[in-house]
Amino acid sequence: MKHLIAPSLLAADFLHLQDEIEMINHSEADWLHLDIMDGVFVPNISFGFPVLNDIRTVCRKPMDVHLMIVEPQKFISQVAESGAYVMNVHYEACTHLHRTVYAIKEAGMKAGVTLNPHTPISLLEDILPDLDMVLLMTVNPGFGGQKFIEHSVEKTARMKEMIEKRGVNTLIQVDGGVNMKTGKRLLTAGADILVTGSFVFKASDPYQTIHELKNL
Ligand code: DX5
Ligand code: ZN
Repeated sequence: MKHLIAPSLLAADFLHLQDEIEMINHSEADWLHLDIMDGVFVPNISFGFPVLNDIRTVCRKPMDVHLMIVEPQKFISQVAESGAYVMNVHYEACTHLHRTVYAIKEAGMKAGVTLNPHTPISLLEDILPDLDMVLLMTVNPGFGGQKFIEHSVEKTARMKEMIEKRGVNTLIQVDGGVNMKTGKRLLTAGADILVTGSFVFKASDPYQTIHELKNL
């Protein structure tokens, strides 16, 4: 499978959200990544359901929703109603992860589980066959524009190895500090989907940047 590009709207100009989403619609981006933060799980607050519901009316790419919140299981039906294609929940925020993953699927979405940089991939061993996607955080979640954490490349390679050994189809998504250089290294290590916030939205030519990321 050719890798996918999922620009993160967190780095967009919020005064011109519709224009930013139209740009994504007309670009070679595969998905639109949407970061929901609650100020508890992460030390920042972004946007919530009213914004997500409006985005849905303009966005023509599949919506990939990354919930950086405690108790994400409480919001599964709201995320589904907002039109999300993928719902990502943090491993660290879910006590009953298996139940949550199945509830996400029953609500008609793909299920993704996200790992913070310090969380070992071995913790996914028993849930891996049930997951459509694993999202490896390559920065600490909560903010755009942070420095890429180096050990993510080697972690991605180990994740890929685990997936291949188990013979499952789980996709690997990476998020944080992704640019042309780190993106290339992550793809070589086995990543399937690159999330990119500031590198795309702060670029002088976002279309060209997305095109280049797509052709890495
Ligand atoms: C961080 C978010 C990311 C963020 C990435 O907590 O999950 O999706 O937007 O931003 P960049 O690509 O600027 O590191
Ligand atoms: Zn994210």
